Amino acid sequence: MSSRWADELAFATDLARRAGTILTDSYERIQRVDYKSKRDVVTDADYASERLAIDAIKARYPGDAILAEESGEHAGVLRDDGSHNGRTWVIDPLDGTVNYANGIPYYCVSIGLVVDDVPTVGVVLDPARDDLYAATNDGPATLGGEPITTSAKETLSDYVVSLAVIGRGGLARERKIAPLIRIHRRMGSAALSLAYVANGRFDAYIQNGGLSLWDVAAAGLIAQRAGAVVTDLAGGPWWNPKLRGPRTSVVAAPPAQHAALLELLGSLKTTLQTRR
Ligand code: IPD
Ligand code: CA
Ligand code: CA
Repeated sequence: MSSRWADELAFATDLARRAGTILTDSYERIQRVDYKSKRDVVTDADYASERLAIDAIKARYPGDAILAEESGEHAGVLRDDGSHNGRTWVIDPLDGTVNYANGIPYYCVSIGLVVDDVPTVGVVLDPARDDLYAATNDGPATLGGEPITTSAKETLSDYVVSLAVIGRGGLARERKIAPLIRIHRRMGSAALSLAYVANGRFDAYIQNGGLSLWDVAAAGLIAQRAGAVVTDLAGGPWWNPKLRGPRTSVVAAPPAQHAALLELLGSLKTTLQTRR
């Protein structure tokens, strides 16, 4: 069955590939790294990738709005009756900038389309491996065009978890989680790590805040369509477009262990954090 969103998926796939080429072309050739804050950096490649994405979306879907990390909100063209078409492209032109700027090949391009506040199309491209993860909300999650599903491991003690418990006391909480799972990792690209849940490279993904909408728009949908339960730290919806600033949290895991992970985080009194 073909997706209702086949055109948008094909467009986002092509766009991610073109943005990915910008990133690989500049990889290890970065001229300038700007420090946005103590931990956040931005490079010319972030800006070039985002410029490409915005220009392409405006050319192909001029009525659609855009939310992009480096330039913020771009209103869509209103209809004759003054209404908006309800579609917003949510873009992280380079997720994992610190890795990228340091020459660590773990980063991605993330392109999502949200329709009437529902994540509808998601594409995450890992240019270093040429791994393209994708999903629409009416079809399967795929990697390189082939359907993928989450980990089928039976016990939490076998889990390899992308875990970032940020904020005061975060590392102490991670140390309490560590003995209950196989191992945890902090990779530095939320979108790519969350996409990894879709094919079981990570069994689960946890970050208790500090995420922005562009970090999760595409990969949250991809993990969900691969069979993961994806929620916020409180077990509520992972996608909340009203949350502006880095206030999004995500707990993504196969149905067999998601509740156990939420309970564990609750028992450790893991609170929502707004920054690392
Ligand atoms: C960051 C990365 C990181 C996550 C942060 C994000 P950026 O995005 O995804 O893994 O922990 O919360 O801000 O700055 O590399 O696009
Ligand atoms: Ca990001
Ligand atoms: Ca980014």
